Parts: sequence; C-alpha cells; structure tokens
Amino acid sequence: MAALLEVDNLRVGFGGCDVVRGVSFTVGAGESVALVGESGCGKSMTSLALTRLPPTDRAEVSGSVRFDGRPLSGPTNGIAYVFQDPMGSLNPVMKVGRQIREAMRGPGDIAGLLRSVGFASPEAIMVSYPCELSGGMCQRAMIAMALAGEPRLLVADEPTTALDVTTQAEVMDLIGRVTKERGMALLLATHNLALVAGRCDRMCVLYAGRIVEDGVVGEVLAAPRHPYTRGLVRAVPRIEDGRANRLRDIPGTVPSPADIARMQGCVFAPRCEFARPECRLAGAEERRCVAARPA
Ligand SMILES: Nc1ncnc2c1ncn2[C@@H]1O[C@H](COP(=O)(O)OP(=O)(O)O)[C@@H](O)[C@H]1O
Ligand code: SF4
Ligand SMILES: [Mg+2]
Repeated sequence: MAALLEVDNLRVGFGGCDVVRGVSFTVGAGESVALVGESGCGKSMTSLALTRLPPTDRAEVSGSVRFDGRPLSGPTNGIAYVFQDPMGSLNPVMKVGRQIREAMRGPGDIAGLLRSVGFASPEAIMVSYPCELSGGMCQRAMIAMALAGEPRLLVADEPTTALDVTTQAEVMDLIGRVTKERGMALLLATHNLALVAGRCDRMCVLYAGRIVEDGVVGEVLAAPRHPYTRGLVRAVPRIEDGRANRLRDIPGTVPSPADIARMQGCVFAPRCEFARPECRLAGAEERRCVAARPA
C-alpha cells in the first residue's frame, strides 16, 4: 500500500541556490517521522514546500509530492501545520474559540477539542484573546486549531522551540497523544534529538538540504552510521554528562546555500572528523559517505 505522504527528489531553490537538494522520504498513515538536523539544514523549507506555503510559493520547487495517492501541488485540508511561534500564528484580535470554529470544516465541539488538548476550563479559553494566554497555552490552542480541520497528517515545525523545557515535554507529549488517538500521521521537524527519542517511529537526518541517513529512531540513536548523525547523537544532552556535553558539539556551522553551490565533494567535509582527501573530490557525496558504518 502506498504511504500517506510520498516525497520524491524534492528540490527547493531561491535565485538558483538550492536549499533542499533532492529529498525523498515517506510517511505512512498514522506513522510519526522526524526530520532532524541543525538550524539551516532545510527542515522548514522541506516541510513548507510540501504544500507550497510561503516562502516556498515563490521558490523554484521540483520533484514529486504525493498525498493519499494523489499529486499534491498546494494546500490541502488533509495536512495541518503547527509552527514554532504560536503567538505569531494565532490572530491577535480574534477570540480563541472563534479561531477554532473557523478552522473547523463544519459544526463541531470546540470545548471538547480544547479539553482534548489539556484545557480544564475550555469555556474560559474560548473567550480569551491569544495575548491573555501563556506560550504553552497558545501552542495548545494552535494544536486544537490544527486538529479542528481533521487532517490526516500534522506537520509540526519546531513546535516547542519557543517554550521552556518543562512545557516543551508537555506539548510534545500532547502532540504524540492526539496524533496517536486520532490515527493521524506526524511529520516533526526539530533540531532537538532529545524530543524525537521515544516519540517518533522513524527519523530522517538532514544536512545542507539532503537526507544523509534515515531509519527507525531507536536504531539510529543507538548506532548512528553517518558521521553527521554520530555528531548529532553525541551532542544530545544527557543528564549524567552534566555540562560536559557542550564540549562535544559538532565544530563549525552548516554552509549557506551559496557556499554549497560553490563546494566540491561532500559538503560535510569541512566539519567531518573522518574526512579523507577523496571526500573533497568532485563526485564524493555526503549521501555516499566513505566512513559511514555499515547497516
Ligand atoms: N525566504 C528564504 N529565501 C531564501 N533562502 C531561505 C529563505 N528561508 C530560509 N532560507 C535558507 O534555506 C536554508 C534552509 O533553511 P530552513 O529550511 O529554514 O532550515 P531549518 O528549518 O532546518 O533551520 C537556509 O540556508 C536558509 O538560510
Ligand atoms: S564523505 Fe567523507 S567528509 Fe563526507 S561525511 Fe563521509 S567521511 Fe565525512
Ligand atoms: Mg526551521
């Protein structure tokens, strides 16, 4: 059976510089898949290009996106988004209840929906304006709005990055619970590997607009194969490490799209502890890493 979402060789470019460079992955019905990588790796552009949301509506986009067996070329009721900044995504001058009603495809139980995202007194929330709620409450309201359209896929792009650590875990658990309860698929874009562990089925690791490794979350975290994934996994804060984990971050930064266009060979080479001379030759590619551990 075909997957719910099938992305094949997706490219997104701005002014001739590609920021997503041939990304392919699938999300099955009810499955949760994480897109992970440092800031600037192309997680948001990949997520937004699925339905051509701005700014990808004015980007050069190619490749194939199929949803529910059909080609997808724009926004659809079947896919809802939750973004990092809930305040910026909610309408500041409209009461929360009305915003949710407008997101519903027909009459529906707004109070029940708010209760399902953890509000004990939904009636009070319905008559509130977003500015009267905390960041965590706004994100719960955004999740309720996303669920209101009964999507089959929820795309959550760094949904907890703006929240404090305790609220982050609560909101991630909420997203996991509501998607599971409703049989919805989840595509989670995050730079935070700690949020992925135990919450997603599979993960795709993006570096500079390409997937360098993908697999079952537990397997990738236990035995990462690609040097970039190894660096990411090592940089995940572990309680027993205390402050020491900060010392093990991957040195350097993600190259800009303009730099990538000028580079030859594997684009991870300047940061890679396993780099060999041949990694910098034309034809060498991060996706065919010479130092990747065998599966
Ligand atoms: N509106 C835009 N126009 C051109 N380039 C952009 C735009 N937005 C982001 N980019 C570039 O696209 C690349 C991928 O960005 P993004 O998808 O936001 O990464 P991530 O979500 O993984 O942090 C980055 O190099 C970023 O600078
Ligand atoms: S191809 Fe070479 S430089 Fe690139 S990730 Fe693999 S070992 Fe490192
Ligand atoms: Mg992003």
